[in-house]
Amino acid sequence: MLYPVQNPYRQTQDLSGFWRFKPDPLAQGEDENWISGLPDPRPIAVPASWNDQFEDLRDFLGPAWYQTRFDLPWHWEDQCIFLRFNAINYQAAVWLNGIYLGGHEGGHLPFRFEITDNVTSCNNTLVVRVDGRLAANHVPPGNIIGSDLDFFASHSENYPQTQFDFFPFCGIHRPVLLYTQPQDAIEDITVVTNLAEEQGLINVKVEPNGARLLGTLTGDKNFAHVEGAGELIFDIPQVKTWSPSSPFLYDLTIRLMNGNTVSDAYTLPVGVRTVAIDGDQLLLNGQPIYLQGFGRHEDFPVSGRGFNAPVIIKDYALMRWVGANSFRTSHYPYSEQMMTLADQLGFLVIDETPAVGLYFSKGGYDQRLALCRQYVHELIMRDKNHPSVIAWSLANEPHSLRESAKPFFQNLYNLARSLDPTRPITLVSCMGLLEESFEFLDFLCLNRYFGWYQESGQIDRATEMLSAELDLLYETFHKPVLLAEFGADAIPGQHAHPPEMFTEEYQAALITQYIDVLRSKPYVIGEHVWNMCDFKTAQGITRMGGINHKGVFTRDRRPKMAAHRLREIWTEESENL
Ligand code: GCU
Repeated sequence: MLYPVQNPYRQTQDLSGFWRFKPDPLAQGEDENWISGLPDPRPIAVPASWNDQFEDLRDFLGPAWYQTRFDLPWHWEDQCIFLRFNAINYQAAVWLNGIYLGGHEGGHLPFRFEITDNVTSCNNTLVVRVDGRLAANHVPPGNIIGSDLDFFASHSENYPQTQFDFFPFCGIHRPVLLYTQPQDAIEDITVVTNLAEEQGLINVKVEPNGARLLGTLTGDKNFAHVEGAGELIFDIPQVKTWSPSSPFLYDLTIRLMNGNTVSDAYTLPVGVRTVAIDGDQLLLNGQPIYLQGFGRHEDFPVSGRGFNAPVIIKDYALMRWVGANSFRTSHYPYSEQMMTLADQLGFLVIDETPAVGLYFSKGGYDQRLALCRQYVHELIMRDKNHPSVIAWSLANEPHSLRESAKPFFQNLYNLARSLDPTRPITLVSCMGLLEESFEFLDFLCLNRYFGWYQESGQIDRATEMLSAELDLLYETFHKPVLLAEFGADAIPGQHAHPPEMFTEEYQAALITQYIDVLRSKPYVIGEHVWNMCDFKTAQGITRMGGINHKGVFTRDRRPKMAAHRLREIWTEESENL
């Protein structure tokens, strides 16, 4: 799904700002005809979660209603007009001028409606009902009760009752865009790049199929024009490749031709790179690369999970400072702006669907599989052209003890492979040898907390267990391994010598000793510390103040001892490269 752009053929208008808002705890809004306007509303910031904007709504998960009004800029006649929601968590229903446009399920991927026939030149009323309530057959799931579900009820004591370890923030979380495209428009673009020695190859497929195209590639001393029908191929001698150390981006402009007339145009950045798993190694541009970075969250005080531009900039600056070259979008797709900056700044991204906390008992199996297929399709169609995306992660920590887990993920793997034949596909497991999907995934991602949840307080014992398990995993599956999560909670300012759990010394020591083990394994392709920053969770006896303190930075982005330790390890190494 192309991101809306402004050019001579396309216009956009961002509807972000202060909207009207009204909680609907009794779910009576539709009966009371709030679709024509909200009675007694309060102002709310869009985009942002509602939970931290109001002290009476922190644990309220919906339904709640939003309303805004907009005029059409005059020059939008005879265009096709669309309304695009970049992300709403969790379920949305949308009305325009009292007409129901449709709905969407899933909190982290964009959806759009064509409104050409519903919109008027001025005073349009847009109303959105958002419902973030947890349910057993949502993905991610929550409010799971009953013993037929085969998983440790490790989250049943949470409030809200999430089956995942982050707060279920709700709201219109990312920008809402009004935009146009011409009657004859470019509907989709798929860019695949390849390398042969110094020669770069860019293959561009455009929908509608067979359309007459003119492609222009700029960004280096020379640039190329190519014509074609539905597909363009650029051969680039002395190509400038894309990599973390040199994230060079070309600008590719596609023009849709109607005779000699241009009917549409779209420009997107292109990074020429290849990514592959080869034996025990992850290759970028044919060279082994080692991933050092984090599992993260989109999380900040007040804005909650909402799009927060300054925090995105701050987080990239901190990742650069600490010497990270990669991150995983745990446990859901991040904003399109975050992905675009990863391309520009040269960070490698494992792009993860919102499938966290999955379970596989028969109840709701087909519904959850259909949702996961929707997410895989939406994610790949959204992010397939980012050079920074080097792999797709199908899920985080599924409860895969049932035999129905493997066919579930085989189904998703086959779908992802059909949509993107170029990138490795994985899932992040805490099951280790019991994760049967490891048999067909392209590389293995493991989360391990020896020294924290098991062998608590015993870092030496923990690293012995980690070393033994990694070897067993490799001997069983013969695939490269990324340790996708490891770490410890550290309360800022807590200190002890010798180190003790919850102190900064313990977190730094555990991370350091884990890294020593990982660096001793030739089949380990990376280390992602959990987590980059402290983040908000549901309330529970293991989360002081409703916060997971495994961040190496605090929630307001101040470094703990472990951040300084990682900087020593990760930048010293890169300086010696
Ligand atoms: C799991 C999970 C994370 C969670 C972490 C923890 O591995 O993937 O979402 O926050 O453990 O318990 O801190």
